[in-house]
Amino acid sequence: MDLNLLHTKLSEAGQSHLLQFWDELNEEEREELLQDLQEMNFQELNSFFQRAMQVPSHCASQEKVDSRMEPVPREVLGSVSRDRSKVQEWEKEGLFQIAQNKVAVLLLAGGQGTRLGVFYPKGMYNISLPSQKTLFHIQAERILKLEQLARQRHGVKCTIPWYIMTSGRTMEATQEFFTKHNYFGLRKENVVFFQQGMLPAMTFEGRIILEAKSHVSMAPDGNGGLYRALGTQGILQDMERRGVMYIHVYCVDNILVKVADPAFIGFCLKMGADCGAKVVEKTNPTEPVGVVCKVDGTYQVVEYSEITLATAEKRSSDGRLMFNAGNIANHFFTLSFLQDVVNVHEPELQHHVARKKIPYLDTQGRLIKPDKPNGIKMEKFVFDIFQFANKFGVYEVLREDEFSPLKNADSQDAKDTPTTARHALMSLHHRWVLNAGGHFIDENGTRIPAIPSLKDLTDLPIKCEISPLVSYAGEGLEELVQNRDFRPPLIIDETGVHELVKNGI
Ligand code: UD1
Repeated sequence: MDLNLLHTKLSEAGQSHLLQFWDELNEEEREELLQDLQEMNFQELNSFFQRAMQVPSHCASQEKVDSRMEPVPREVLGSVSRDRSKVQEWEKEGLFQIAQNKVAVLLLAGGQGTRLGVFYPKGMYNISLPSQKTLFHIQAERILKLEQLARQRHGVKCTIPWYIMTSGRTMEATQEFFTKHNYFGLRKENVVFFQQGMLPAMTFEGRIILEAKSHVSMAPDGNGGLYRALGTQGILQDMERRGVMYIHVYCVDNILVKVADPAFIGFCLKMGADCGAKVVEKTNPTEPVGVVCKVDGTYQVVEYSEITLATAEKRSSDGRLMFNAGNIANHFFTLSFLQDVVNVHEPELQHHVARKKIPYLDTQGRLIKPDKPNGIKMEKFVFDIFQFANKFGVYEVLREDEFSPLKNADSQDAKDTPTTARHALMSLHHRWVLNAGGHFIDENGTRIPAIPSLKDLTDLPIKCEISPLVSYAGEGLEELVQNRDFRPPLIIDETGVHELVKNGI
C-alpha cells in the first residue's frame, strides 16, 4: 500500500500514532510495520471497539444477567446417568453416521497456553504419562480407533476429518509437530489446519497499541474467531466437498475428551438438534467453568466471572446447584447451522472485552510494562452462536469419565494441572480394567481393593494407561484382562499388555 494512502486511512480512523516512529525505522522494520498495518481494516476495528465497549461494564451488568438467567429445561437435556437405557441407541446412531463419513471433528487450538506457562501450543504438552504421549497424540489415536470401530460395526472404511484451528501464535509449531510425528498415523490429507484471525490490543480510548516501534500488539480473536475463519479459510466448502454433515467442536486441553463421541452425536441427532453442548454437573459454586443456561429465553453460556456468588450458590429443591450445567467446551453443530452462522449471523456477534495489562511504548518509544490493566483485547467466544439454534440440545456426562482440563502449571493447591490430568486419565483406565474383570495386586501379590482404604491413599492413583488404539471408551478389554492380576504400572497398547515392573522397566 502506498504510504500516503496509509497515512490518510490512519488519520481518518484516528490511528495516526501508529506511524509516529516511522522515521527511526530501518528498511526491514518499515516492511514489518507495513505488513502489520496493511492487513488491518481500521474502520472495522473502530466499530468492533465501539460495539464491544457499549456493553455495560462487567460489574454493572452482573445483577442484570443474574436476574435474567434460567436453568436448562429437562426436555432438552440428555444424561448418560439418568437416561442410561438410551445411551446405546445414541451411540449406535453416532457410529452409523461416522461410518457414512458424515462426521468431522474440529479442534480449537489457537490459544496461547499462558496460564500453563508454556510458549508452545498446549496440544504439544507431555503430561508425563507412562507412554509420554502428548494431548495431540492421544486425540489423534482416539480418531483412529473410532474409525476402526465404525468400520468393524458397519463393514465400510471411513474417515473422520480433523480440522485444527490454530492462530498466528500456534500455526507453525503445530504443523511442524504433526509433520515430525507423521500425523500420529492419520492421513495427512484428512488433517486440515487453518488459522483464526488476530486483532490488535487497544487502549480504553480505542487507540491501537504498539508493542515495538515496528510492531502492533496483536492477539488471537478468541475461540469464536472460528466462525469468521470457517468462511475466509474455505473450511465450510471443504466440509461440504467431503460430505460432512455433523461437526464435533472441542478444546485442546481436556485429556479425557471423547473426540467425535458417537453417543453425543447420536443424542443430538435423535432430538433433532442443530446445535448442542456437552456439560458436566457443576457441584462447587466457585468452580471456574461457564454454565449453559437460558438468558432472556435464549441459550447461552454465562462465564463463571459473569455471575455473582449468590447466583452461583442457588440450589433447586433437589439440593443440586440451580445452574449446574457446567460447560466443558464440547459442542455439536450441523453443517447447515454453521453455514447459516457464517453467512448470516457472524457479523452480529459482538466481541467480549478482556481488560489486560498490555506492554506499550510511551511517546519516547520506551517499552512500559503496566502494573494494572491499561487496555483491552477483544474476543468472540465459540458458544456465542447458541442463540441462533433452531433446536438446542444439552448432553450431560460424568466428569470423572470425560472432563479433566489442563489449564495451570503444577504447584501446590493448583487445580487443573498436568498432575490432575494424568491422574484423571489413569484413574479412568484403572476403572476400565476393573470393569472388564481385571484386578490389580500390590508387591506382595495381594489384591488391591477397587476403593482403597485411607492408609493406601498415598499410593493413588494406580498407574495404568491404555492406548486409545486399544480402547476408545473402555470397550474390548475383556479378552485382555479378564480374571488376570496385574501389578502396576500397567500399560496396554497395540503391542500387548505390559506390566512394567515384571518387565524390569
Ligand atoms: C473454556 C470455556 C468455558 C469452559 C472451559 C472448560 C470458552 C470461551 N470458555 O474456558 O466456558 O467452562 O473452557 O474448560 O470456550 N482458543 C482458541 N483461540 C483463541 C482462544 C482460545 O482456539 O483465541 C482455544 C484454546 O486453544 C482452547 C480453548 O479455546 O482449546 C479454550 O480456551 P481457554 O482460554 O482455555 O478457555 P477457558 O477460559 O478455560
